[in-house]
Amino acid sequence: MEGKTSSSPERGELLHEGKAKRVYSTSQPDLYIQEFKDSATAFDGSKKGTIGGKGSVNCLVSAKLFKLLESRGVKTHFVDLISDNEMVILPVEIIMVEVILRNVAAGSLVRNLGFEEGKPLVPPICEFHIKDDAIHDPLIADDHVIALGLATAEELGILREYGKKINETLIEFFDGIGIDLIDFKVEFGRRPDGTIILADEISPDSCRFWDKETGKKLDKDRFRFDLGDVEEAYQEILERTGASM
Ligand code: TMP
Repeated sequence: MEGKTSSSPERGELLHEGKAKRVYSTSQPDLYIQEFKDSATAFDGSKKGTIGGKGSVNCLVSAKLFKLLESRGVKTHFVDLISDNEMVILPVEIIMVEVILRNVAAGSLVRNLGFEEGKPLVPPICEFHIKDDAIHDPLIADDHVIALGLATAEELGILREYGKKINETLIEFFDGIGIDLIDFKVEFGRRPDGTIILADEISPDSCRFWDKETGKKLDKDRFRFDLGDVEEAYQEILERTGASM
C-alpha cells in the first residue's frame, strides 16, 4: 500500500468509530490502527461539519507530539505512522475521564465559571470531566470519579502528574514556535498489566492554540464559533509544528 512502511500490520475489523477517529484491529494481537477522519463535531455532536485535511493534520501533529512526549519519559500509545492519517497504536482500555489542563482562561471556564477570557492561570488548572457526550462531559470532582468507579484515587494521582508533565513539555514546544498553549484535553488508557499510558490524540481538535503575536486562534474554536479560515489554521499548525510523515 502506498505510503505504508514494510512492517505495517494489516488492518483488520473496525472495533470502534468515534466522531473524529476509527480504531481497527490488526493482524497482530497487540497492535491496533487509529485512523483520523476529516469529520468535525462540536458541542457534543450537535454541530457537524467537515474540515478538509483535518484527519491528516491531527494524525501527523499527534504523532509529532507523542514522540516528543516519549522522549521526555511520558509513555504513549503511539507506535508508528503508516500513512498521513493512520497510526499504529497499542491497545488500551480507555479511562472514561477527560483530563484538561489550562494555562489561560477560555472556553467552559469563561462560560460556566465566570473567569475572564485571557486571564493567566498560575499555577495551571487540572480538571477532570466525565467522558460522556450524552451528559455533556461534565466537570467532576475526584470523589465522583472514585464513587463512579471510573478510576482509583491512585490512578487520579497518576493522571494529574502526567497531565502536569505533558503541559510543561507542550508549553515549551509551542512557545518555541510562537504559540501560546491556552488549554488542552488528554485521555489515558490502561494496558493489560494496569500501566497507564497517554492515548487518543493531541491536535488542534483537542487544544487551544493562540498565536503569540496576533492572538489569532489556530484551533477548533474556528469551527465551533464560525470564525473562518478553519482549514488554513489547521494547515498552519501542521507547518509550524514541523509535523510530517
Ligand atoms: P472547554 O473549555 O470547552 O472545557 O475545553 C477545554 C479544552 O478541551 C479545549 O482545548 C478543547 C478541549 N476539548 C476536547 O478536546 N473535547 C471536548 O469534548 C471538549 C468539550 C473540549
